[in-house]
Amino acid sequence: MKILVTGGAGFIGSAVVRHIIRDTQDAVINLDKLTYAGNLESLADVSTSERYVFEQVDICNRAELDRVFALHQPDAMMHLAAESHVDRSITGPADFIETNIVGTYMLLEAARAYWNGLDEVRKAAFRFHHISTDEVYGDLPHPDEVAVGEPLPLFTETTPYAPSSPYSASKASSDHLVRAWRRTYGLPTIVTNCSNNYGPYHFPEKLIPLVILNALDGKPLPVYGKGDQIRDWLYVEDHARALYKVVTTGVVGETYNIGGHNEKQNLEVVHTICDLLDEMVPKASSYRDQITYVADRPGHDRRYAIDASKMSAELDWQPQETFESGIRKTVQWYLDNQQWVNNVKSGAYQSWIEQNYGERT
Ligand SMILES: NC(=O)c1ccc[n+]([C@@H]2O[C@H](COP(=O)([O-])OP(=O)(O)OC[C@H]3O[C@@H](n4cnc5c(N)ncnc54)[C@H](O)[C@@H]3O)[C@@H](O)[C@H]2O)c1
Repeated sequence: MKILVTGGAGFIGSAVVRHIIRDTQDAVINLDKLTYAGNLESLADVSTSERYVFEQVDICNRAELDRVFALHQPDAMMHLAAESHVDRSITGPADFIETNIVGTYMLLEAARAYWNGLDEVRKAAFRFHHISTDEVYGDLPHPDEVAVGEPLPLFTETTPYAPSSPYSASKASSDHLVRAWRRTYGLPTIVTNCSNNYGPYHFPEKLIPLVILNALDGKPLPVYGKGDQIRDWLYVEDHARALYKVVTTGVVGETYNIGGHNEKQNLEVVHTICDLLDEMVPKASSYRDQITYVADRPGHDRRYAIDASKMSAELDWQPQETFESGIRKTVQWYLDNQQWVNNVKSGAYQSWIEQNYGERT
């Protein structure tokens, strides 16, 4: 198969591309605009493969999308390109509306035009896999809001949408567009909604890499509010394996929730990272001493947790990493890959990309 992956230079997209090139016989067309979050260095190990090609394209540019479909003739597509950082969506929502909603619309229309021109066999086999987040469901009751002994609810595929942030509202909008294109035009779409990912090559604005790198730099480790927000953490390579299963064996029109069965309070995550660093890179005082509490994010959801039983029962997928094994691997990866980190932090990567691919947005 030739799979068109949008956002393949991002955190999760690059894990998907690495997985497909290393572990399958399929080919990848990586379509990415290379915003601040896109990093081709994350693909250095696989980008020389004959089964890999890169196209620097904005998903809002319909003419360029049409060119890519016509040139590469994909058999399936996985749509990950998005603006993805909640804090940025609060200070500047415009890019989120543009890429996540308008961009998804452009991609749906380009895919529909291409799909309509395929022969019957290829048309039946084509898949438009839209990758989304559990944040579209809003938040769940926190254990301190549930009576002792009562079960804690989880997000299922039928949980009503109730997004809280500009980011999650823009992702919810894109999910609705994808389902409408299935219902109205018959485009063979599948949607997945996943919990928080962590792992190697994560841009250091997100909680886990931020804490690891700030700790090593002797900087404060910012924790929102009391740090009691709960997220269900999934190792990024487990997500990549799940996504490949869905695009190759998932049922058209279905939604699959993907999660790690790892509910952790943010403060617990920060403590775990500090304890690992105390063990791996010991210093006079504990890294926990660098924790600093900061004002909570407006509209901050208190708890997310995924019921991933449909993925397990219908597609035989389970995460391979526990939080304990995955976070240890992640901390070790940041310690072993200082060059990647330094390039991202210093702007050396950005100068390289400008030389090789022109102006960067
Ligand atoms: N990170 C998570 O924990 C998480 C969890 C569930 C779902 N998701 C979803 O998975 C997808 C990938 O997330 P991520 O964390 O890898 O994001 P990311 O921010 O690391 O990467 C996004 C990628 O999309 C590209 N991009 C952005 N705007 C573009 C545009 N207009 N045209 C083409 N490319 C563009 C960027 O250059 C970047 O390579 C997103 O759709 C996100 O909503 C993320």
